[in-house]
Amino acid sequence: MSLNTFGHLFRVTTWGESHGPALGATVDGCPPGVEITEDMIQVWLDRRKPGTSKYTTQRKEPDQVRILSGVFEGQTTGTPVQLMIENTDQRSKDYGDIAEKFRPGHADITYWQKYGIRDHRGGGRSSARETAARVAAGGLARAALDSLAPGIEIEGYMTQMGPHRISGARDMSQITQNPFWVPSAETATLWADYLETLRKSGNSVGAMIEVVARNVPPGLGAPVYGKLDTDLAAAMMSINAVKGVEIGEGMAAAMLTGEDNADEIFMGDDGRPVYSSNHAGGILGGISTGQDIVVRFAVKPTSSILKPRQTITKSGEAAEIITKGRHDPCVGIRAVPVGEAMMACVILDHLLLHRGQIGRNRGTIG
Ligand SMILES: Cc1cc2nc3c(=O)[nH]c(=O)nc-3n(C[C@H](O)[C@H](O)[C@H](O)COP(=O)(O)O)c2cc1C
Repeated sequence: MSLNTFGHLFRVTTWGESHGPALGATVDGCPPGVEITEDMIQVWLDRRKPGTSKYTTQRKEPDQVRILSGVFEGQTTGTPVQLMIENTDQRSKDYGDIAEKFRPGHADITYWQKYGIRDHRGGGRSSARETAARVAAGGLARAALDSLAPGIEIEGYMTQMGPHRISGARDMSQITQNPFWVPSAETATLWADYLETLRKSGNSVGAMIEVVARNVPPGLGAPVYGKLDTDLAAAMMSINAVKGVEIGEGMAAAMLTGEDNADEIFMGDDGRPVYSSNHAGGILGGISTGQDIVVRFAVKPTSSILKPRQTITKSGEAAEIITKGRHDPCVGIRAVPVGEAMMACVILDHLLLHRGQIGRNRGTIG
């Protein structure tokens, strides 16, 4: 069973645990000749790495990536690319309590019930350290996209923290200017106060993240079981703590009329269709339209909190648990680069599938 692998042609297998010596990704199916260096992947890992602000876990991991195979003289060779990241800042003693007790909201109880054995240190395989491997694979996917379909841009940002939605007009230039990846300086200030109070009280909060892929050509994706939106939803849902995924209008589409929801089509001056709106989120019938692909996902609040919660022990006794250690007060912040990485992997995977089956789009308009 390959339950740690995703992708059809660009196949990513992640491996490793939070407190093991290292973790990483084995990427099979990357086309040859893609220019890639460790530094190019590191750029994306640095966006996800812990300890970059007081609003993320204070675990200090450099998350330095090493390319062990599949690259020769700065280019992929078409053979499996092995990406490895060492774990350097583990504190196993922080997790002594959860060896016996199950954290409410975390995966401790289900891993135990299923496997009867688990590496409780840092949550083991259920730890979001696994997402570092996805971001490394995403860095390779971005490089492959740059070479095969130049111009595609993938950008993620937070649009909501707990009850507080982004306020005012969006200013995309602000995304990298604040610790929350939010496209609004005003909102970042409000969220900073809100999260600081919450963090000091030992609590946590959920968030909403939006990821957009721009300049994706029309035609990616396939009907029925190979839908681009199916694979995007699965990819985002596979990220730790994600509890909901939407494409385009998403759940709000249920409240619209057909008249309102219709993205009207006109012929553009350059001979290509243009749409009046993008309720579809850039996908119709599972196939990209050429508009922006817009995916949103909701993450739940961090379950490891300092607030006492009721639970049970492995032997079935009632217990109270307070989770110490270094945890993210809002996992949504570090989930932004992870969502971008998943988008890059899925878009590349579908680009390769499209090239394999169709080559170039066959339908002409005009
Ligand atoms: C980037 C990121 C960082 C996370 N950091 C923490 C953390 O510090 N503490 C914690 O308890 N959960 C954290 N989580 C969430 C857990 O990994 C997740 O809740 C757990 O694996 C259970 O899986 P589920 O929430 O998907 O059911 C994080 C998730 C993400 C995406």
